[in-house]
Amino acid sequence: MTDKTALQELSEEEAKAELARLADLLGRANAAYHTQDAPDLSDAEYDRLKRRNQAIEERFPGLKRADSPSDKVGATPAEGFGKVRHDVAMLSLGNAFEDEDVVDFDARIRKYLGLPSGTPLAFTAEPKIDGLSLSLRYENGDLVQAATRGDGAVGENVTANARTIDTIPTRIEGAPALLEVRGEVYMRHDDFDALNARQTANGGKTFANPRNAAAGSLRQLDAEITRARPLAFFAYAWGALSAPLAETQFQAIERLKAFGFDTNPLTTLCDGPQEMIAHYRKIEEQRATLGYDIDGVVYKVNDLALQDRLGFRSTTPRWAIAHKFPAEL
Ligand code: IVH
Repeated sequence: MTDKTALQELSEEEAKAELARLADLLGRANAAYHTQDAPDLSDAEYDRLKRRNQAIEERFPGLKRADSPSDKVGATPAEGFGKVRHDVAMLSLGNAFEDEDVVDFDARIRKYLGLPSGTPLAFTAEPKIDGLSLSLRYENGDLVQAATRGDGAVGENVTANARTIDTIPTRIEGAPALLEVRGEVYMRHDDFDALNARQTANGGKTFANPRNAAAGSLRQLDAEITRARPLAFFAYAWGALSAPLAETQFQAIERLKAFGFDTNPLTTLCDGPQEMIAHYRKIEEQRATLGYDIDGVVYKVNDLALQDRLGFRSTTPRWAIAHKFPAEL
């Protein structure tokens, strides 16, 4: 049996062995990507293996492992950092690869909610930033804690590091007494090139891409190293809250912007799958000139009461999906 063995041809015994192999491979890929900031698989290969794992599990539900990669987000926090248990788990997103998957996403949600046909259902669409996610906890307006996603339940305490990032406010006005702002730490292309040039000149380590540079720069035990690195942050979500931010996703993002966070200017409201796909194409056309890496477009149900009703599967919300771009050549 090889990696390419067609799913239909797998015997139960082969499927079991293949699931063990994929759990090991994906487990090591997660550690390389999230803990060591040095990926050993391309994103496209990782997605492919994850889909293969899921397809085998769907065919042989009884063989699904207790440590199934389908139920995992990220990797356990690295040694050396304090640990932070997230009040609200930091999850991942399901993927769409084809236009048809976007149409199915809308249909699945309508079915789950039992919406009569013709009922309007709006979504936000925004770039999927290729960086690492960060949760910022504000109490009475003061930034008191910053944590990486880690394994989704427990992340790394990077508070001192986050305080050195210019676009992360250390104090915000007018926010609920408790607010966790979530978003992506990333590095712009020009800053990445300059950093690698500096590293080369100083005999330091260079980074393979802006995502690794951002992750390697934020996840430093010495915050003074982070301070010298050109990191930026886009806010796109939230965790624990003492009062709702708004009634819709779009308005909630506008509030985050009013608090002083950078929010992505390409965030827009769409009436349904056709508009979502059109916005995806528009963002894809601009991808090369944005000045930072994105790897797809994220769609989210706009009505937050509907997001609540839809809730979550084991590691992903039912109300959002990432429409990935084809791998860049
Ligand atoms: S929303 C419940 N919006 O993609 C999950 N995530 O593959 C809420 N990401 O862990 C996440 N850009 O690190 C969201 N505009 C965006 C994003 C985004 C990048 C990352 C995030 C997340 C991962 C999932």
